[in-house]
Amino acid sequence: MQVRVEPGATIAGSASVPGDKSIAHRWLILASTAEGGSELRDLPPALDVRSTARCLAAVAPDARAALEGWLQSGGAEADGDRFTFNKAQARPASPALRLQGRGRPGLDVPDGDLDCGNSGTTMRLLAGVLATSRFTSVLTGDESLRSRPMDRVAEPLQRMGAQVRTSGGRPPLTIVGAPLRGISYEMPVPSAQVKGALLLAGLEAEGSTTVVEPAATRDHTERALAHLGAPVSVGDGTVAVSAFRHGGFAGRVPGDLSSAAFLVAAAALTGGELTIEGVGLNPSRTAFLAVMERMGVRTEMRMTDPELGEPAGELFVHRCDGLRGATVPPDELPLVIDEVPILAVMAAYAVGESWFLGASELRVKESDRLGGLAESLRVLGAHVGATDDLVIAGGGLRGGRVAARGDHRMGMALCIAGLAADTAVEVEGVEVIDVSFPRFLETLRALGARFGG
Ligand code: S3P
Repeated sequence: MQVRVEPGATIAGSASVPGDKSIAHRWLILASTAEGGSELRDLPPALDVRSTARCLAAVAPDARAALEGWLQSGGAEADGDRFTFNKAQARPASPALRLQGRGRPGLDVPDGDLDCGNSGTTMRLLAGVLATSRFTSVLTGDESLRSRPMDRVAEPLQRMGAQVRTSGGRPPLTIVGAPLRGISYEMPVPSAQVKGALLLAGLEAEGSTTVVEPAATRDHTERALAHLGAPVSVGDGTVAVSAFRHGGFAGRVPGDLSSAAFLVAAAALTGGELTIEGVGLNPSRTAFLAVMERMGVRTEMRMTDPELGEPAGELFVHRCDGLRGATVPPDELPLVIDEVPILAVMAAYAVGESWFLGASELRVKESDRLGGLAESLRVLGAHVGATDDLVIAGGGLRGGRVAARGDHRMGMALCIAGLAADTAVEVEGVEVIDVSFPRFLETLRALGARFGG
């Protein structure tokens, strides 16, 4: 599917975004492996989250019926009728998911391979859980996921005592579960997925498991575990956990701030004022707002009550009347890793150069985002350099035809690029946006965007 974004509209008003993908993966895993019942609300219908639910249904017999019911309901009331509704409500009331768990020992051998779809988080987090099982499982995924590095999670899990085989460092992952022992592991690459996998493995390991992070990454796993009463300790660049079995819990997933980032950028680029309601405001996810602030975008957070240890609230975007270039240093980059595509688009409209330093991890995301951004922004008229760093000369974009390249965030970033270009931007392959933000285009349209035929 292709969309033609017409420039000239102002993106303004109020909106909500689907539930946070990173949080939803973790809460689904924790609920399916809890000892007892849980109730999860506002799980997003994002395809990645559905992949986690599908894999869990295959290994968690007690949770299976509930997970399958949720999957069949579409995860939320999917409205196939694109472009027709007029409220920027990407988060319709969705049914609560009530599910039972029988703890880790209650997990059972799956019938076949576990298909993680496009989701690296599903594969890496589940690797940590399945490494502690009594059976062998195989994790696979789509073409994009099958090209992504898995040694980073296989290697430490092997050190803990599991057998994890990869295909030349890539999926499929064959995991032979075993009794594990805790280790202290210094991650060579900062990764919340690897940290999460090791902490989840550590819950069933003998002794304590410590993860040392070379740079801070999102902390949803440790927050949820602490909230469930697990013995987690967070130090300066380290997180440690010891064996722990937890009960069921209840929680409402806050909106995904990384999805909201696209709407914030849309408002900023078009001079609109915007409120995003019910969104997650965890400090390990808000770093992109600081980068945007340096670029000239003023935002305000109004906190409400946290959900299972996750800060949440309302985000207000002030009218912006011009962007300037900014530099993202290497230690800040892991905290804005998912927002680089949209920050890069904003940089293309800024006055002056922008630098994203130490950005090579972007080459192994859902697509090679460094290469894709450089090529796509050049097609639209920008001057871009991409090595391990990304440098973008500002000055605006002229319009043209680009493609999402099978990557949801690339697709969304390029649609936003079209809002302020000299002429229309056509983006091919936008169906991939459903990986994280179903109803993205409808939400934009309700906020004022115009799409051509
Ligand atoms: C995620 C962590 C990040 C991020 C991904 C989601 C998570 O990946 O890019 O979209 O939920 O843990 P890395 O941990 O590999 O950096």
